[in-house]
This record gives sequence, C-alpha cells and structure tokens, in this order.
Amino acid sequence: MRKVTKAVIPAAGLGTRVLPATKAMPKEMLPIVDKPAIQYIVEEAVKSGITDILIITNRGKGLIEDHFDRAPELEERLLAANKLEIYDQVKYISSLANIYFVRQKETKGLGHAVNCARTFVSNEPFAVLYGDDVIIGEIPACAELIKAYQDYGKAVVGVKQVSEEQIYQYSSLKVEPIDNQGHIFNCTDMIEKPKSKKEVLSLYSILGRCILTPDIFDILDRTTPGAGGEIQLTDAMRELCKTKGMTAVSYSGKRYDMGNKLGIMQAAVEVSVNHPEIGEEFKKYIKDFASKL
Ligand code: UTP
Repeated sequence: MRKVTKAVIPAAGLGTRVLPATKAMPKEMLPIVDKPAIQYIVEEAVKSGITDILIITNRGKGLIEDHFDRAPELEERLLAANKLEIYDQVKYISSLANIYFVRQKETKGLGHAVNCARTFVSNEPFAVLYGDDVIIGEIPACAELIKAYQDYGKAVVGVKQVSEEQIYQYSSLKVEPIDNQGHIFNCTDMIEKPKSKKEVLSLYSILGRCILTPDIFDILDRTTPGAGGEIQLTDAMRELCKTKGMTAVSYSGKRYDMGNKLGIMQAAVEVSVNHPEIGEEFKKYIKDFASKL
C-alpha cells in the first residue's frame, strides 16, 4: 500500500459567514493568537508525515502564498536586531513542506475545489484538510486517519458527533463501530445537509479531514451540484463509500470551526490559555473577566 505523503488544503471558499472580516482577508489567515489558522493545519499535516501540500486558492488569497514564502527583508531586519527566536519562527514557516498552489477559478463547492488537485495527486492516496477546520490535540488528526487507511485499506473520513440541531448544516453518516473503544467505524452511507429527520443517518458528521483514493476524481467529474447548488465532496464520497467501502475515525483532537464567529473566538480563548508566552497571564485575566459576567 502506498504511503500517504500528499495533502490538499481547499482554501478557496468565500467565507461569507465571517464577513466583513473576510471581505479582503482569507478566513484561513485569521490568527489564533500568533499564527494564522492555515499554519496550524499545515503543521498538523507535516507532523503526520505529509511532505507535499497543494493549497487550493482563488482571487484575493495571495496572503496565503506570501505567508509560506521567504521574507528576505524581514528576516534580515530580525537578524540585524538579534531577534533570533522570532527569526527562526519566521524562517521555519517557509521550510515546513513543499507547498504548491492552484486556483479554483470559480467557487463551485468543496468537491469542485478538490477536483482541482487531480494533476498534483496523480495516482496516490491523499489527505484533505479543510482550510477552515483547525484541530488541536496530542496526536495529529491527520495521522490518526492515515493509520486507519493503512490498517483497513479504504478511504477514511474524520468524524465527530454534532447536536441534533446542527446535523442539518453538516453531513450525516451511517456508521457501525469496528473497534472496542467506539472510535473507528465502517461507514456505509452518507448524506450532505439532510433536509428532514427521516434523512438523518446518525449524528456523526465528517468534520475537516479525510484520506481519499484517486478514484474520487472520476466520480467528481460526474458529480452534479447538490445541497446549496454546490458540487459537494460528500456526494462523491458517498459513491466511493458505496463501491469501495470507507472507514470513519472519531479523531481525538478538538476541532475549531474558523469559518464561524463562535469557533474563531473559542479557538482564540482555548489556545491562549495554553500558550507558553501569554497562557498564565491570560488565565488570570479570563478568570477575573468571567467572575464579572
Ligand atoms: P465552507 O463551505 O465552509 O466554505 O467550505 P465557504 O464557502 O467559504 O463558507 P461560507 O458558507 O461562505 O462561510 C469548507 C472549506 O472548503 C473551502 C473553504 O475555503 C473551506 O476551507 N472551499 C469551499 C473551497 O476551497 N472552494 C469552494 O468552492 C468552497
């Protein structure tokens, strides 16, 4: 079985739920304390053994390319000022992985964005890390999914349970546990944004990560627009799951939805509390602040 070394990060969405912040600024560049969301995602991929990353962008996402490029003037200035720690951090960003970019010319949905990666992926299994889903945990979520791909030999989706109210905004999966801890499942069916209770297959939903096989591209080519008029990745994954089978992994990390105002604030608070530089001071501040609410 081929090793998973390639990843695709779709980051070409319009981010309408976070307007006006995302009018000119990509939501993937929104900071969580001192790093943009997409850097956490690239770091997770690299820790999982990924060496080559394709970021799908579109107009107005140039900041993402600049962030992963060298910044010679800035680096020189930091060196001259002997700010070595921050110099290392700045330089390290451009050496994380081989990072490539391709434009999704029209914003036609996540499935359409992933289909822009066909040439990059070629004939290999690959990880997809959604550009607005930051997952923080001891074990990188992408590594947990890659392990399941190696163990079971099928495409893998990263899942979590969502509430009964939320499921209508997400995908819903038909799953049966296959391990004793109830973290790994056989997935036999799925639906994107169920319209009624009858359509809900379970409260397990695909959240932010998957490992796909290259057969997905032929399926995506014939996938027609689904929920919201977009070419949905879930619709193509449904066919893959029905024909080749699929594994679902309830990953251990915590997911923050950077495409949503509440998710952005939760990420900021929870990462701040554990931050080596400001953590202790921020904890005091937040306790004091909370006591007055
Ligand atoms: P979302 O559906 O959350 O992105 O897609 P969106 O369209 O930006 O969100 P709203 O509803 O307008 O706020 C999940 C991920 O897929 C990417 C997004 O950038 C995000 O990282 N995406 C989505 C694309 O790359 N292309 C698309 O056509 C749609």
